[in-house]
Amino acid sequence: MYIKELASAEGGTASLQGWVANKRESKGIVFLVLRDGTGFCQCVVALDQVGPEVFEKASGLTMESSVKVNGRVVRDERQVGGFELQADGLEVYQVAEEYPISKKEHGVDFLMDNRHLWLRSSRQWAIMNIRNTIIYSIHRYFQEQGFLQMDAPIFTGNACEGTSNLFETDFYGDPAYLSQSGQLYGEALAMAFGRIYTFGPTFRAEKSKTRRHLSEFWMIEPEMAFYDIFQNMEVIEGMLHHVIRDVLATNRRELELIGRDTAILESSLKPFPRMTYDEAVRIIRGEQDVNGVNSIASLREELTASTARLEAVQQEIAEREAGLAKPGMKKGEIAFHQGKILQLRKEQDELEEDLRNIPQWIESAENFQYGNDFGGSDETVLTRLFDVPVMVYDWPHEVKAFYLKRNPDDQSKARGVDVLAPEGYGEIVGGGERETDAEKLKQKIVEHELPMEAFEWYLDLRRYGSVPHSGFGLGLERVVTWICKLKHVRESIPFGRMYGRLLP
Ligand code: 4AD
Ligand code: MG
Repeated sequence: MYIKELASAEGGTASLQGWVANKRESKGIVFLVLRDGTGFCQCVVALDQVGPEVFEKASGLTMESSVKVNGRVVRDERQVGGFELQADGLEVYQVAEEYPISKKEHGVDFLMDNRHLWLRSSRQWAIMNIRNTIIYSIHRYFQEQGFLQMDAPIFTGNACEGTSNLFETDFYGDPAYLSQSGQLYGEALAMAFGRIYTFGPTFRAEKSKTRRHLSEFWMIEPEMAFYDIFQNMEVIEGMLHHVIRDVLATNRRELELIGRDTAILESSLKPFPRMTYDEAVRIIRGEQDVNGVNSIASLREELTASTARLEAVQQEIAEREAGLAKPGMKKGEIAFHQGKILQLRKEQDELEEDLRNIPQWIESAENFQYGNDFGGSDETVLTRLFDVPVMVYDWPHEVKAFYLKRNPDDQSKARGVDVLAPEGYGEIVGGGERETDAEKLKQKIVEHELPMEAFEWYLDLRRYGSVPHSGFGLGLERVVTWICKLKHVRESIPFGRMYGRLLP
């Protein structure tokens, strides 16, 4: 039986197989926290219940030892999964060697080197379960709407998203690239099947060490014939609402386990504000307020408040440390103050980070040049003002991909749309309406210095029954990172590939 199914065995017996995630011993009792991949369950091995031989075995178990435990299933709301197993038998598969990951804090590099083991921790378990819900939810959303799931190739002969970040490989003596996006193939598929989506790995070779870049990530790319940019935005919003709703309905426990405050997720079930690039620029530069809040003024206020708070925190740490230095404090009191100091230091780190970031944000907001693409700071400045993702469309065509259609009323703008997640997360979706005119596309291909022969097949899509069409790409890991409120995208994928990381 799996831990997830224990409710069905309440009052009866069950046999669980798994790994020892934790062990505690007190007189005559060994408490094992067992994990089996579906959940966590405390197993109580009592000497007077199992006898000395089995008890001895339980007592000798190390972290991550693999076992089978039989026992009675008892409801206990205080336990992680709501149940406890009162053991009457125990079989040992293996007593594990000393496990490298302990309860103490480890550095991120150490954890990433041990990613194959780190994945067993309850936090990673929660994140991966949420990732699974998101994947399933996306498939369900599109399948229920009648989209066909189709696969784009990984080896490609042409670039989709610019040539600067291509991974080149050898394809029987010819250069080939790992796909940056399935979009161009998605367009061909939409012309054949109407509405499709691809869901596959994509590759970007930028030597970037930011918290949002992976070299290999999973992208969901719907493409819809006869959809314009506004219908495209409806699909993006519908899909993200669907995903958020499913995560809130399925993963309350996991969200709690990773300490995700769900208020922003709940409020993101509202319609997403839609604004043009021009409007977004006015907001970033502080020329236009959002619900009475000005971007730059509010950053200044936050800077003042954070500075004051940092002083108060530092003073409190000093006072508590002085108190601890004096003799005569009781054990319990010492532990209490030490705990408080730990908390305060964490807050101090966060405040110091804010105080490093905010001045940069103010500076880049004040100096934002109209016509530029948004950088990470610009996205943060804009999205801080919202408690829901925002959609920015109609971008200066120079900063966007070659395949985007121009706004018919303003030729300087390309009909791209980016979805920016709140809480500083930034871009999670990029998409838009596609150029339908072969001649205009050719001109763009030349401008972008792309090899025309590699795009002949793509131009055929405009020669034979060209229709308005749109689509977008959702970066799965970016969405997982935001929904789980992770600090870095590396925790959102089982085995992240990024600059400087190929193992394990
Ligand atoms: O904005 P991008 O580059 O758009 C495209 O590739 C389009 N061809 C998609 C389309 O219209 N069919 O990438 C789309 C999304 C981004 O919004 C981001 O969420 C994610 O893919 N993404 C990355 N995620 C992790 N690491 C990277 N290096 C990423 N680059 C893009
Ligand atoms: Mg983009």
